[in-house]
Amino acid sequence: MNSKTYLVTGGAGFCGSALVRRLVQDGHHVRVLDNQSRGSARRLSDIKHDFEFVEADIRDAEVVQRATKGADCVCHLAFVNGTEFFYTKPELVLEVGVKGIVNVVDACLKHGVGELVLASSSEVYQCPPVIPTDERVPLSIPDPLNPRYSYAAGKIISEMMAINYGRTHFQRVVIFRPHNVYGPDMGWEHVVPQFVLRMRELCQEAANPIRFPIQGAGKETRSFVFIDDFIDGLMLVIEQGEHLSIYNIGTMEEITIEELARLVGEYFCRKVEIVPGAPTRGGTPRRCPDITLLAGLGYQPRYSLRDGLPIVAKWYDENAHKAPKSWTAEKG
Ligand SMILES: NC(=O)c1ccc[n+]([C@@H]2O[C@H](COP(=O)([O-])OP(=O)(O)OC[C@H]3O[C@@H](n4cnc5c(N)ncnc54)[C@H](O)[C@@H]3O)[C@@H](O)[C@H]2O)c1
Repeated sequence: MNSKTYLVTGGAGFCGSALVRRLVQDGHHVRVLDNQSRGSARRLSDIKHDFEFVEADIRDAEVVQRATKGADCVCHLAFVNGTEFFYTKPELVLEVGVKGIVNVVDACLKHGVGELVLASSSEVYQCPPVIPTDERVPLSIPDPLNPRYSYAAGKIISEMMAINYGRTHFQRVVIFRPHNVYGPDMGWEHVVPQFVLRMRELCQEAANPIRFPIQGAGKETRSFVFIDDFIDGLMLVIEQGEHLSIYNIGTMEEITIEELARLVGEYFCRKVEIVPGAPTRGGTPRRCPDITLLAGLGYQPRYSLRDGLPIVAKWYDENAHKAPKSWTAEKG
């Protein structure tokens, strides 16, 4: 295997740090650009001497140019993630998304970087007309007035930039669309950690079954992919993905939010009685990727949710004291 120089933007984040770890392990030279707004270099403290860390904002064109110099490949993951922020900070989500991809493409052109790997998202499909959803399903913004779609809009713009500059200016541009990646230390603003923290708190009351309030009726579905499987898939995309191709990364194990709550309850040895609440505005009723294209590169996820969830529940159970105050049990 040839050793390469990678720039990973957003490399202190949940997925980015796992990618950095794998690239370093595989003998590559890695530089990370991250402003640590959501991620933290702490995630990589045990290997901090094995890669370069540039603490900077992706919106700063000059610094992105400096960080890109000498890279063979840029993996662009820096983005404002976390559903809560799509509603509360849509301008920031778009600014980081749009300026980020413009700065990355400009820097690649300036320094003749041949390869660009872009993180997009399952959110670009919104309410997909086909389940499982393959990569050719049309992308959509159902309501421009709903701030939630700031995130999908930023991702769609990023994809269009990558593809259209990719046609003539890059040797290889590949896009991946992650579908609900979960794992230990994944952040706090996601359904899995929120359910674990709330269930943990409710467990301290005696009631069994536990009455568990959720948003909506619990019939919405998601397909969760464990971080180790996700990184296996992403490495296939990075190493073997075809020029100007898009790959879903996820699993085809579609489960309801109600089932997820029951599985979290199982970790705490409790039965769960779902208490339905108001649905979120703009939420997607079903989500399950078709992963045939990535399977063609050899991808085969190993963890079912039943395998992976207890690992993650244990991490959040043991680290509950680290939860930011606003993300403790009342939330979600
Ligand atoms: N985790 C998932 O399930 C999922 C699903 C779909 C898409 N994605 C995409 O995959 C990528 C990685 O996601 P993640 O779960 O690791 O998210 P994350 O929030 O943990 O990581 C994103 C990183 O980007 C950094 N960042 C944010 N704004 C920045 C800025 N202005 N300048 C520099 N760095 C900045 C954050 O500090 C963070 O470390 C993102 O592009 C995300 O949109 C993730």
